[in-house]
Amino acid sequence: MAQEQKDTEQESPTGFNGHRDMSLDEIAALHPGLAIIMPMVGTRWWNVYYAAKESNWQLATFQVREAISLMNKGVQTRPRYGEAIAEYIANDLAPVLAALADKDFSTFEKAFHAATNRANEYHEEFKKGYLVWKLPDHPNPQVDYTPRD
Ligand code: HEM
Repeated sequence: MAQEQKDTEQESPTGFNGHRDMSLDEIAALHPGLAIIMPMVGTRWWNVYYAAKESNWQLATFQVREAISLMNKGVQTRPRYGEAIAEYIANDLAPVLAALADKDFSTFEKAFHAATNRANEYHEEFKKGYLVWKLPDHPNPQVDYTPRD
């Protein structure tokens, strides 16, 4: 009997979230797609700009890396964006990271705006041309951009 119960559990494993049993499919479906991840990317990208403006190269680099990590999570749940995101990281974000490594704000600024334009082009390519990311005209008030090194 105990063995039978175990076999059944293995056929349809569930997880208890503290409130209910959930199937693996239900748990998998809760993993965030781009609709949840992209607004977080937008906040990271906002922070990238103002961190670089304050010469906080360490923070700006961290924020780009976190944006990349978020996008790669999006690729795991929505593989159809994989090619575009890999291309974007290699062609558009790499120059941003390089300028930050060089602590070169004017090169950074050009690469940042080019990458922003390219992101909005991707939105259009994926039939979401109405989603246009725009750099806020003020720093994120939740963030202290003062360099720490
Ligand atoms: C730094 C670069 C990027 C920024 C700042 C950015 C920003 C955003 C933001 C804020 C949204 C949500 C808008 C809203 O719901 O009101 C969004 C949606 C989206 N972005 Fe991006 N994005 C970037 C790059 C990309 C790239 C490279 C792709 C290529 C696949 C992409 C594909 C999408 C898609 C498909 C959506 C719609 C998701 C959905 O609602 O289903 N984005 N983006």
